[in-house]
Amino acid sequence: MDISDYIAESSARAERALNVLVPVETALPVTIHKAMRYSLFAGGKRIRPVLCFAACEAVAGQVPGIENVAATLEMIHTYSLIHDDLPALDNDDLRRGRPTNHKVFGEAMAILAGDSLLTLAFEVLGKLPTTPDKAIRLVAELATASGTVGGMIGGQVEDLEGEAQPPTAELLDRIHRAKTGALLRASVRMGAIYAGANDVQLTALSNYGEHIGLAFQIVDDLLDVEQSSEALGKTAGKDAAQHKITFPAVHGMEASRQMAARELTMAYQAVELLGERAEQLRSIADLIVHRKA
Ligand code: IPE
Ligand code: IPE
Ligand code: MG
Ligand code: MG
Ligand code: MG
Repeated sequence: MDISDYIAESSARAERALNVLVPVETALPVTIHKAMRYSLFAGGKRIRPVLCFAACEAVAGQVPGIENVAATLEMIHTYSLIHDDLPALDNDDLRRGRPTNHKVFGEAMAILAGDSLLTLAFEVLGKLPTTPDKAIRLVAELATASGTVGGMIGGQVEDLEGEAQPPTAELLDRIHRAKTGALLRASVRMGAIYAGANDVQLTALSNYGEHIGLAFQIVDDLLDVEQSSEALGKTAGKDAAQHKITFPAVHGMEASRQMAARELTMAYQAVELLGERAEQLRSIADLIVHRKA
């Protein structure tokens, strides 16, 4: 299947699962469900669910219930975006082409909407139609990737504290692998685990996830410099304004592009042993590096 069709189809599948899993807007108390849905259904790229599907398919083809695993990744990701945009963090007004959650619902509700997406993700994993052993592994994967040691929150902490620190290549690498890379890597790993990957397959897919995870944030940094807010659906040029430690700030634009290209090559190499079955994963890696938004 053509990659743009594949992405359209799998993101629609993730969206359908989210629509079923997240309480309707009329469920009491209505404000929190409106706030959760406002950010979730604002048209993100759904790259984490798409990676989860593609990794699952590379191992075992279609496996029933994978859409709920994929949905949990988008819940955690959307929670991280709502909190990332808060005045106390990046203080952003625009996200996914709309006013940020706190601009519409207020800070208290935005904090709670993030909290509730985080909580719901683990409720969904706890209710998966799978063996207890697999469910426990998935819970641990998602929690570690979202956590403080090498995970999303740890990366966000160093990203914020980095605003007042000299930008070193070592700190940059650690921030990006943690704040963004960990959840992308987990997206691939969780798809593989749910599909019953063996150790060799899981290691290959983990390596792939690590390379595309780093590449994703390198490109996010490049786009922040190169693109308009309109194209991105979020405020462009904010990293320099907030003295963020980014790839362009540390290495310059051209070297950053080359580094993203090198991660792409390594992602390809990582999944070589999976042959034809990794075709979609290769195309997704390409897209991550060559995207314009
Ligand atoms: C933006 O993520 C935040 C980062 C981790 C770089 P995405 O670029 O995946 O955002 P959406 O989901 O498409 O809005
Ligand atoms: C955010 O990184 C990573 C998260 C964990 C949300 P950024 O702060 O660069 O993300 P954008 O550019 O606001 O989407
Ligand atoms: Mg940030
Ligand atoms: Mg931000
Ligand atoms: Mg950014």
